[in-house]
Amino acid sequence: MSEHTTDVLVVGSGIAGCAAALGAAREGASVTLVTKTTRPEGASTWWAQGGVAISRDDPEGFKRDILDASSGTANEDAVDVLVENANDVVRNVLVETLDVDFDTGDDAEFDYSREAAHDQRRILHVDASTGKHVHVPFLNYLDAHDRVTIRDDTAALDLVTHEGRVHGAVVEDGDEGEPIFAGATVLATGGIGDLYPRTTNPDGSTGDGIAMAALAGADVADMEYVQFHPTAFDDEAPSAPDSEDTADQSFLLSEAVRGEGALLRNADGERFMPDYHADAELAPRDVVARTVAREREATGEVLLDTSPLDFAAEFPDLLEKCEDRGIDWETGIPVAPAEHFCCGGVAVDDRGNASLDRLYAVGECARTGVHGANRLASTSLLEGLVWGLRAGEDAAGFDPTVVEAPDLLNRDPELPDNFAREKFVRLRRVMDEYVGLERTPDGLGRAHGVLRRLKGEVDAYVRTRTSRSLYELRNASITALLVARAAAENDDSVGCHYLADGEPAQARADD
Ligand code: SIN
Repeated sequence: MSEHTTDVLVVGSGIAGCAAALGAAREGASVTLVTKTTRPEGASTWWAQGGVAISRDDPEGFKRDILDASSGTANEDAVDVLVENANDVVRNVLVETLDVDFDTGDDAEFDYSREAAHDQRRILHVDASTGKHVHVPFLNYLDAHDRVTIRDDTAALDLVTHEGRVHGAVVEDGDEGEPIFAGATVLATGGIGDLYPRTTNPDGSTGDGIAMAALAGADVADMEYVQFHPTAFDDEAPSAPDSEDTADQSFLLSEAVRGEGALLRNADGERFMPDYHADAELAPRDVVARTVAREREATGEVLLDTSPLDFAAEFPDLLEKCEDRGIDWETGIPVAPAEHFCCGGVAVDDRGNASLDRLYAVGECARTGVHGANRLASTSLLEGLVWGLRAGEDAAGFDPTVVEAPDLLNRDPELPDNFAREKFVRLRRVMDEYVGLERTPDGLGRAHGVLRRLKGEVDAYVRTRTSRSLYELRNASITALLVARAAAENDDSVGCHYLADGEPAQARADD
């Protein structure tokens, strides 16, 4: 085995991983950033539409909206860190360092947009495809940085730990693999969309960082709070065009479209949101998502009616997506909820420190406390940026130590045909049915049992084999179990953890 050392190892290449790399490099550390993707599109950041909320001149108002969206469950200290740093970090990194060309109005001032549960316009954006306009310059900037090495197509398999401290990770790129020893390790592996049949996340969102951290013994929190976006394109709706092409069928219709006045109507043409919440289409995301799901179930489909706005002029990139797929957007775009964001994750403090020494987590795989039970729109890029930078700066101060690492790579990589695919189908079915938008104690108990058995089957293979797809399946099965267990143990129906009835299901005490 070759020995690779670096001051800071960052796992993941979305905005949080990039910000961590930047923060550490600015402190003079050598940084190795590994990502299992080969294209920017492999990170959720690239797909982000809405934008980056900032405090402008009203941090208190921004804080209030975050707390309200979370039904008062967000951690106030964490929210203070976010809102107090928002303006400076966005200006310093996105505007001055990366030169992101946020949309401006005729007066050359920023054109702030509004989304659900924001009481004012405070979202910086580039059309409705902000993510890629931030992500690509960030990767290019780091690529040119002499203290940063980016290794793509390189998956982290397990953390290297010794006497309670994390010393890096074992990574695999193709058939080759090696431990990378690091003074500090920052997990920035994104979300868990692969656990559900419909998601806005890119493929490969298998909760890798959360699973690796949990396996190493780090604390994980708030996993029951899985956020569903109310308006992803519904490719199964009666009015959706037939498509042979199964790739990229669903896509997000940004909340910014409702922020500009679009309405939700059921299959009978009725606008229903005012019957459910005073803020109607701009109610908190969990409320809109559940209501859309119910109306879709009851009437057959739900349509996003863009007639109150000039959709073509205001959202040219979404218009193009609709036209590419043959969607007749003028009669309404069929929409359905899709898994969008995991509010929980590796429990971290206000600088991204996890409960294990020299381990950090940032971005979607981290639980900072900012989101509580439900995340306010357009706060995820900001959270990734703020915590990524702070964690990177903090992680920069340690020398790497070479310790004994697990030798995972000299094992038989062959798996039975369709092994991972069949397990993923089972896992997603259970998560969709019992651990989705609405949960019941019975269903959670059942899901927990099925997922434990599934994890046992996967573990039996992991003991003797190593391959990226098997480890992704392992990570997904661990993460699914964490979600189901946290949900079963929480009898407080709040935010994204909505209990439809009855008493809480108890996870088995011996799990
Ligand atoms: C959206 O554009 O609706 C997504 C924004 C977010 O999830 O923060």
